[in-house]
Amino acid sequence: MKFETAAGQNPIDQLNVVGKPIDRVEGPLKVTGTATYAYEQHTAVPNAAYGYVVGAGIAKGRIASIDVTPARSASGVLAVVTAANAGKVDKGEFYAARALAGPDVDHYHQAVALVVAETFEQARAAAQMVKVRYQRVAGAFDLDAARSTARAPKQAPYSPPPETSIGQFADAYAAAPVKLDATFSTPDQAHAMMEPHATIAAWDGDRLTLWTAIQQVNWGVRDIAKTLGIPKENVRIVSPYIGGGFGGKGTILSDAVLAAVGARQAGRPVKVTLQRALMFNNVTHRPATIQRIRIGASPDGKITAIGHESWSGNIAGGRPEAATTPTRLLYAGPHRMTRLRLAHLDLPEGSAMRAPGEAPGMMALEIAIDEMAEKLGLDPVAFRIMNDTQVDPENSRRPFSQRQFVECLRVGAERFGWSGRPVRPASRREGRWLIGMGVAAAIRGAPVTKSAARVRLDRDGLLIVETDMTDIGTGSYTIVAQTAAEMMGLRVDQVKVRLGDSQFPESSGSGGQWGAASATAGVYAACVKLRETAARKLGFDPVSAEFANGQVRQGGRSAPLVHAARDADLVAEDTMEYGELAKQYAQQTFGAQFVEVAVDAATAEIRIRRMLAVCAAGRILNPKTARSQVIGGMTMGAGAALMEALVVDKRHGFFVNHDLAGYEVPVHADIPHLDVVFLDETDPTIAPLKAKGVGELGISGVAAAVANAVYNATGVRLREYPITLDKLI
Ligand code: MOS
Repeated sequence: MKFETAAGQNPIDQLNVVGKPIDRVEGPLKVTGTATYAYEQHTAVPNAAYGYVVGAGIAKGRIASIDVTPARSASGVLAVVTAANAGKVDKGEFYAARALAGPDVDHYHQAVALVVAETFEQARAAAQMVKVRYQRVAGAFDLDAARSTARAPKQAPYSPPPETSIGQFADAYAAAPVKLDATFSTPDQAHAMMEPHATIAAWDGDRLTLWTAIQQVNWGVRDIAKTLGIPKENVRIVSPYIGGGFGGKGTILSDAVLAAVGARQAGRPVKVTLQRALMFNNVTHRPATIQRIRIGASPDGKITAIGHESWSGNIAGGRPEAATTPTRLLYAGPHRMTRLRLAHLDLPEGSAMRAPGEAPGMMALEIAIDEMAEKLGLDPVAFRIMNDTQVDPENSRRPFSQRQFVECLRVGAERFGWSGRPVRPASRREGRWLIGMGVAAAIRGAPVTKSAARVRLDRDGLLIVETDMTDIGTGSYTIVAQTAAEMMGLRVDQVKVRLGDSQFPESSGSGGQWGAASATAGVYAACVKLRETAARKLGFDPVSAEFANGQVRQGGRSAPLVHAARDADLVAEDTMEYGELAKQYAQQTFGAQFVEVAVDAATAEIRIRRMLAVCAAGRILNPKTARSQVIGGMTMGAGAALMEALVVDKRHGFFVNHDLAGYEVPVHADIPHLDVVFLDETDPTIAPLKAKGVGELGISGVAAAVANAVYNATGVRLREYPITLDKLI
């Protein structure tokens, strides 16, 4: 089905089920421990052996020799996989790093071997016996030092343009009466999701099945086929439950590749999970950035020139962190320039992490906007409203599909009590605490992608939905069930949703905040077909028949829907496609983040007291799961502001704090009650459900709002994240 932007009324608009804050349909399975995550497929694969990954002990160089003999003859060991015996292990399409080192080592903790044994303990013990001699060579590990060698990256797939230029930025900036030129830095960050990367691999002849934790099942099929040089048709990926992804499970990684090769060598299924201490260096992370922002404005506060340059580093073939993305769309201004620069670094691969581009970009941009408002003597909310735009500032012929940014700011300011903000920094004190408030904008792309589903109505009246969409903890099961129930006039408990299997129709998967709107659109398309079939079966006109309360109705006549499946199950499958929609409209979600902090006047300890997010993200399909997405994002944003940072050992080239003891993330005591407001919005130009997504909007802008609140509390302006107390004193 081709999506028509002028969708008008459609069955979803009944809102009997969609838009309701219903509980997660798979929740009971998760809280009772019966949801089968990748490593727990004991019933599907009862005889799996255990694989243990050996990570490289150097960051750059060669494996001079690797002796696996003692490990191979250790108790219980079935196979030891290295580059020497693995067969073809290429790279996939999405990630630049190889899953298996040898002879070259590209980054620290890149896998050099997988030891397969009868038990986990045997595999772990034998892994200690693998003797590797390395020839180390010098590498580049310091972004600041490598910055002068950074180059304009090539336009890569999945990446925005590296440079944009509108008008005459340099001249306009030079001529601006009020200006700011500031440089910011954001650190490397880790996804640190709760469920580690994990896979069970099983071969049946030349056919491979992977039970793995993955966000885009179809990317995984494509990438494992390319990696191993096998036909895509021979691969099945199963991923029903996923314990967090944040972009770190976009496609298959070393656990999947090594499990597949290990299973082939051991002649039986093999399960591999990355040890927690490997996750930080073996797989991808959010790369550090250095960002320079220049803003010029007229004395009355109109932005005339805005420029944003961002430097990041990556291994060969890796992409830049697109931190300039928000600056291209957020504020008006005739003269504009954005520029990405990429340096070669021999650190582990940098890649997508929750709101790639926007999250680190707004950490810088939204402090710069706060600084500019202060220079102009304007309230930061008012300054942002003054520079709103309703068209893409880089392309005046491309309107936003919806843009309620100003409303987000106004509603948020009202709800948060912004008028009570201390105007002068460091001017409010309660006992030993300095109090401050900060605001930041939020913007994050809302792309939609092709997505398919199959629906089946059986003679008991149960509707089964199948799509390879994933649920990474976001609520996909629930909103898919709501969509199908609404379309067919059923209750949610009459719908069974099956996700995460490559044998099901190919969906958008979960990434880039596109999952909610895209995957439900595929279900919508399949249900439109099923409605037509059911209506015909029951003797109704397929176009005008209505479906509600288990009945099909038209004119004065009605019949139970289940009667349509009396003789045989009714099945329908379809794909929603979009054509060139993204060229006509800038598709974005918007928000405003408000934060109040208290900073200890003596120790500089920072406590977040209140947080409010106001979001405009199209129709909210389920306010409960959507709120959970946003408060998760806000929590991650608070972590980015105050604590999260991978510490680079610049001599040896690795992330030192590679476990959850050293890599700090917020705990309950760090996070106050979080308020979320969704503006009443439907976006008919995006997708048939008129919804967008909120999974990445929720983190965007948060860290800058915290930083601005810390400035308001203390009068100390910090431009290097994370904002730790040592930098304040
Ligand atoms: Mo996302 S970080 O694009 O899964």
